[in-house]
Amino acid sequence: MGVHTGCVIMSMLLCMSAARAEGACPSPCSCDGGVVECNGRGLITSSMPTSFPSGTTELRLHNNHLTALPTGVLDPLTSLRKISLHGNPWSCDCSILYLRGWLLKQRNDVLMRNVSCSSPHALQGVLVANLVEEDLLSSCRYWFCDLALASQISLVIFIIIQAILLASVIYFLRRFERLSKEARRTTEESIAGGDVSGGNEYTMIKDRGT
Ligand SMILES: *[C@@H]1O[C@H](CO)[C@@H](O)[C@H](O)[C@H]1NC(C)=O
Repeated sequence: MGVHTGCVIMSMLLCMSAARAEGACPSPCSCDGGVVECNGRGLITSSMPTSFPSGTTELRLHNNHLTALPTGVLDPLTSLRKISLHGNPWSCDCSILYLRGWLLKQRNDVLMRNVSCSSPHALQGVLVANLVEEDLLSSCRYWFCDLALASQISLVIFIIIQAILLASVIYFLRRFERLSKEARRTTEESIAGGDVSGGNEYTMIKDRGT
């Protein structure tokens, strides 16, 4: 029975990976032959499919809420003949670089004229293909810059903690030194003065208490 369940799971996994290799129809879209219809599905960039069937000849992405295409998403589609991208609020910042580069490679004037910026305000209506690369690069925030910043901040924090620890070690050493000096002094005094008076005081207090 255990073996049987294992077989079922194994064949399911095999089926899934086979479907993936062939390129199953991605979830909110519908596919018919080489035509993949993802238009009007309310897609946003982060939730859009990241892979399409390798045999896709026509990809309909119009009338969604796409602000950019995930980098590399169209590269495996070597059979692609037609794509519709209009009716999306393309955001012309660093994230649009992939789509811009892809459009420029296509040399399809009709397609290029249908892809224009919705934001930022200064670039509204500008065709994505006409964007100047330098203007976009200034909006790029590279992850390794953030990493460098984070490591610098943690370094500073570590140095501060080290300084605090060192300061407290010095402080306690000083205190210990003072205490031991005092202890040595009182020992010397008690040896010089004798234990008798000390003993007397103790008995006096004790007597008063009772
Ligand atoms: C361009 O957009 C119009 C609608 O605004 C659409 O009818 C047409 O098919 C689009 N052309 C391309 C090549 O995407």
